[in-house]
Amino acid sequence: MNRTGVASVVTSPRFGDDWWRRGVVYQVYPRSFADTDGDGVGDLRGIIDHLDHLGRDGLGIDAIWLSPIYPSPGRDVGYDVSDHRRVDPLFGSEDDFDELVSESHRRGIRVVLDLVMNHTSDRHPWFVASRASRSGPYADWYIWRDPAGFAPDGTPLPPNNWVSWFGGPAWTYESARRQFYHHTFLVEQPELDWRTPGVEAAQFEMVQGWLDRGVDGFRLDTFNVFLKHPEMLANPARRGTSAWTRQVHRFDIDQPDQPALIARFRAIVDRAPGRMSVGEMFVGTTEGAAVLTTDRHLVFDWELMTQPWRAHAFRAAIRRRERAFGPDRWPTIVLSNHDQPRHASRLAASIDASEAERDAIAKAAATIELTSRGTPFLYYGEEIGMGDVRIPLAESVDPPTARVDPEFQWWDRSQSRTPLPWSGGPGAGFTTARPWLRLGDDATTRNVASQRADPDSVLACYRRLLAARCEQRSLQDGTLVLTDAGDPTVLAYRRSGSGGEILVMVAFDRRGAYVRLPAPRRGAGWRPVAGTHPDLPARVESRSPHRLRPFEGLVLVADG
Ligand code: GLC
Repeated sequence: MNRTGVASVVTSPRFGDDWWRRGVVYQVYPRSFADTDGDGVGDLRGIIDHLDHLGRDGLGIDAIWLSPIYPSPGRDVGYDVSDHRRVDPLFGSEDDFDELVSESHRRGIRVVLDLVMNHTSDRHPWFVASRASRSGPYADWYIWRDPAGFAPDGTPLPPNNWVSWFGGPAWTYESARRQFYHHTFLVEQPELDWRTPGVEAAQFEMVQGWLDRGVDGFRLDTFNVFLKHPEMLANPARRGTSAWTRQVHRFDIDQPDQPALIARFRAIVDRAPGRMSVGEMFVGTTEGAAVLTTDRHLVFDWELMTQPWRAHAFRAAIRRRERAFGPDRWPTIVLSNHDQPRHASRLAASIDASEAERDAIAKAAATIELTSRGTPFLYYGEEIGMGDVRIPLAESVDPPTARVDPEFQWWDRSQSRTPLPWSGGPGAGFTTARPWLRLGDDATTRNVASQRADPDSVLACYRRLLAARCEQRSLQDGTLVLTDAGDPTVLAYRRSGSGGEILVMVAFDRRGAYVRLPAPRRGAGWRPVAGTHPDLPARVESRSPHRLRPFEGLVLVADG
């Protein structure tokens, strides 16, 4: 409820109840979006102040997904939650949150929350009570097991061979209970036992509480890990390069009763129409993501996020996605998020691109992201081509980075979580204080204000592509078929649907390419409607050669 006691609902959205298939979601990392109270950390009022950047007069996205805003000791930067029902005062008040929801809704923007339900912080009152004693209402809310035995020196041995994704064993001994608790992530992130009925009831009640406040959907953190095998059997061994990859994760993730749990969750979300959910697949394949996707629940697919900047790699990734998802399942499109290197840096590095080429590649990648089949999830800052920022080890805020283990390769996630530069000058319009994570060295030149004024900027390109996506219904819901443009360094595909036929071409090569366009099913040629470059050719005839400029992306509609 907001302060008037009435849950806010979105007004004049661009799309109806199926907005989460047709629209675009934008991930806000609240700590790094905009700071209004001068503590160097982004906050909810900062998001409210910048909604115009996201709304119709700006990018024109359909929903914001907020990375966790709940109270947290911050060991996993907010993904260790100590109260799922409240807003961390670091980000603002409960009223600020309700105002963010109603201000977003007023602009036609939906609000999606990040739900971290697999685990809690070790400071969560449930865990504090649970670890203290084997009796009491929370005693079995976490995964507690007796030691498998004792070493000759009396050291208790963990119940099985499971390991933590963040390195080390997945079990920690608690002497007060003389038992181990399980954690797939940090020692400070104990795993809830979803097979204890009270856990599911409490979590679903919390979900209902946010829905009552007007929230439009959820991202489910590591949703394929919630359930473990009831007997907690040891995982089989296999060859691998780390403790994690040397196991087949048969019993600690992806259990067969997981879809039924998600269906029970969806039944709550579906009490009102137009609400979305998307599951974060923790370590998985495209095929695995497709299997867990339903008509009511999206699942992140990482296939496009792991490709180098090569046309054949993207073509193969799209082919694999299309095959896995088929006509009846709706994919997501993700190039960057808070756990991975930013794609502007990653793709440029994959072909040793120069600094000047980096923006051109970011625009070409945006063409694919905003025109292929699925719901795009943009990551804050990608709209200005933000790259990773090198963070000295002493300034890193990503705990696994500090783990010293030669076998444990960890990419410091702090690098892709740095503050968004809004303007030039000290603090880059992000803060008046020292930012919680350092700004990129390029913040004085690469910022929202400078790009707003430049028709050839990455931001201008995102706005053109987002506008085209909004105008062309076939880009929202059409089928996708890969096609041949006569040059292997060009990615080309057709989108066909209720809005007619669309052709997308992207040149991956720094020299550009000569293409020969396939003929549209109806009409004589193609009319460009958007692209990476601000100037578009008036019309492109099919079958006659056309030159694509270096890293040029073009979106064309069949023209009769
Ligand atoms: C998800 C989050 C990641 C977090 C992990 C544990 O993968 O995206 O940031 O560290 O879950 O909560």
